[in-house]
Amino acid sequence: MEVIIQPTREAAALLTAKVIADEVRKNPSAVLGFATGATVEPVYANLIEMHHKEGLDFSLCKSFNLDEYVGLSGDHPGSYRYFMNSHLFDHINIDKRNTRVPNGMASDLAAECLTYEEAIWHAGGIDLQLVGIGMDGHIGFNEPMSSLQSRTRVKQLNPVTIRQNAGYFGGADKMPRRAITMGVGTILDSQRCVLLATGSAKAEILAEAIEGPFCARVTASALQWHRRAVVIVDEACAANLKNREYYDWSFAHEPEWAPFRG
Ligand code: F6R
Repeated sequence: MEVIIQPTREAAALLTAKVIADEVRKNPSAVLGFATGATVEPVYANLIEMHHKEGLDFSLCKSFNLDEYVGLSGDHPGSYRYFMNSHLFDHINIDKRNTRVPNGMASDLAAECLTYEEAIWHAGGIDLQLVGIGMDGHIGFNEPMSSLQSRTRVKQLNPVTIRQNAGYFGGADKMPRRAITMGVGTILDSQRCVLLATGSAKAEILAEAIEGPFCARVTASALQWHRRAVVIVDEACAANLKNREYYDWSFAHEPEWAPFRG
């Protein structure tokens, strides 16, 4: 795992977008794994700008989203399909037929989860997966004590997560209680994983996830087991990290990162 600390939230989001853009340029038919949420909104804004100004071409890309609320259709403003269309897909040249978000309205949710896993497999697996971290340390909606081998399935949301996202629904009582989510094992299968975390509110859980023990209580800690994970954070979110000197040194000197340094 590599850790990159950027001075601001904006710089962290821009670097994340550059890493995704680099993947798309090197592999135009990349299979991208997307996340939703406040943290990644500026990443998508940067990708849209790169598409318009630099011709970043998504026409051959495929995508899979991490999760979707059970019971919400794609035209519900709180759904993750709606989020992806309005924050990214409607503004770039990806073929929407090649974008998948789990179907939260499926009558047979177990079958939907299985089909989702199969679709990822048929696409050749995810080349680059973007994830955020929840206040309870989740990735996707893999709430505390999720199996670290889990696959796409339905999870009961943590009250912590319900409080975190209640604002999108006008109150916790209006929030869905369950979601379909890729499993930790599904995320670990990606060729590359980028975790973006910003803001002081996540400083404590971020440090637990990346410098604490590998454990099901904080499912983001599973990224320590990922073959090629990079964690991009802003100063505020990096406040509790202990190995900071090494992270900064490594980013400053690692040749692979030379094109990404400011
Ligand atoms: C969203 C997802 C979640 C979020 C996380 C952070 O698709 O899977 O794990 O990435 O809850 O959300 P924000 O960025 O809103 O704090």
